[in-house]
Amino acid sequence: MDGVVKVAVSGALGSMGKFTCAAVLQDAGLALVAAVDPRYAETDDSFPDYCPHFVTVESALGAVEVDVLVDFTQPAVVLANVLAALQRRVAPVVGTTGLSDESLSRIAAECRRQDTPTFVAPNFALGAILMMQFAREAAQHLDACEIVELHHTGKLDAPSGTAKRTAGLVEEEWGKRSHQAQVPVHSVRLPGLVAHQEVIFGGLGETLTIRHDSLSRESFMPGVVLAVKRVRNLQGLVVGLENII
Ligand SMILES: NC(=O)c1ccc[n+]([C@@H]2O[C@H](COP(=O)([O-])OP(=O)(O)OC[C@H]3O[C@@H](n4cnc5c(N)ncnc54)[C@H](O)[C@@H]3O)[C@@H](O)[C@H]2O)c1
Repeated sequence: MDGVVKVAVSGALGSMGKFTCAAVLQDAGLALVAAVDPRYAETDDSFPDYCPHFVTVESALGAVEVDVLVDFTQPAVVLANVLAALQRRVAPVVGTTGLSDESLSRIAAECRRQDTPTFVAPNFALGAILMMQFAREAAQHLDACEIVELHHTGKLDAPSGTAKRTAGLVEEEWGKRSHQAQVPVHSVRLPGLVAHQEVIFGGLGETLTIRHDSLSRESFMPGVVLAVKRVRNLQGLVVGLENII
């Protein structure tokens, strides 16, 4: 396994975790060495067949050698998982959304203490990164903006991490030309949706809508695989896929 990145996935039985395990298994440069999910304690689900299963990150990291931990879990548990990885100098790649600024500060401090990097992306889809870049450009010219983010009913946090980040980028751009205003965000949760966002700018007699749709969770996988391969070359905490593509 020389040169192959050893990957553990936490949240392995979740929607994103399943796609992540499959993407890691399909990439010759990556090896799936552990799948972590507390639901293994209460199910005979054998997914994925090709690596040992664990109910906690600590037990996985204590049992197998891991280079990178990919976390797609829940806002309430992600910080503990990331800190457990950093304490063993395993580099986390975090897709779980809902991390507070305070939690991000704690992660950044632990990265420094353990001399181990962490990568966090509110959105791993390339199209979503472009949507944010285009919104930023539009904000240089248009003074009114609202965001509508639409997700499946299982999403626990609202507004989405992507919507908060897009709003922040637009406000930052406005701030550069002394336009002080906030971007309202509207959250929709409906069955049938995956992950969608509209950034709507209003001007004099016109609107501009920038829309991104993740139609399948597969849309996130190229970004996840890229982050797994790049994370160990980063310094400290890095937030946002745009920083590594
Ligand atoms: N960054 C992105 O591009 C992106 C894209 C889609 C979803 N997400 C986020 O990813 C997260 C997961 O989404 P999902 O749809 O897969 O959710 P899900 O509910 O389907 O899966 C979450 C899984 O985490 C497991 N889990 C709970 N506690 C755990 C723990 N302590 N350790 C390990 N596993 C644990 C659960 O049992 C469950 O199987 C959410 O925060 C969601 O917003 C991010």
